Amino acid sequence: MSFRFTRAAALALALVAITTAAWSRQAPVKKVIYRPVASVNGKDLFKEYCLHCHGEDGRGHGPDAAVLRVPPPDLTTIAARNGGKFSNAAVEDKINGWKLVPRNMKDMSDMTNAMNTGKDAQSVPVMPLFGPIFAAIYPQEVRDRQIRMANIIRYVKSLQVTPVPGEVPKT
Ligand code: HEC
Repeated sequence: MSFRFTRAAALALALVAITTAAWSRQAPVKKVIYRPVASVNGKDLFKEYCLHCHGEDGRGHGPDAAVLRVPPPDLTTIAARNGGKFSNAAVEDKINGWKLVPRNMKDMSDMTNAMNTGKDAQSVPVMPLFGPIFAAIYPQEVRDRQIRMANIIRYVKSLQVTPVPGEVPKT
């Protein structure tokens, strides 16, 4: 793990901690701490990491959805809204969120300011950046992380209301 990678992960984790703190000021939302789970099953991982916003059925009605600045989208209609296409890569990018990770202390302090003051708040990501979170909670397991990510994506794909090529049956 490179220094850069480690620092990005630390910054993003700090960001998640601050974001959850900001939510709890708005409404009595419990602080969310993401823990490693033993199972690599996509449905189990979805339950642990995604359900509290996107809901058990993925339609966006999780217990924390109501307090978010941006409502969680319906994950069952990703393909339907994209001309029948389900891009694994786009979904992986969204879950990982690497492009949004602050790369330096200025980005970090801009984001913290936005969160604390509400100014430019739209620049603060609402969905947690799971790339750094998974890197932190599954630190020694690159291959294992890839399997987990693939299984989460496959699970989200299985929720699609429209048939998607290569779809796996609902579990
Ligand atoms: C804190 C709440 C929260 C959690 C936890 C969360 N999401 Fe999201 N998610 C959102 C919000 C809000 C959006 C829409 C805004 C955005 O794009 O950031 C979103 C957007 C998405 C999208 C894009 C959907 C589309 O219509 O293009 C995907 C895919 C997604 N989430 C998957 C996941 C998966 C998989 C997990 C678990 C690993 C997860 N999310 C966890 C809040 C959350």
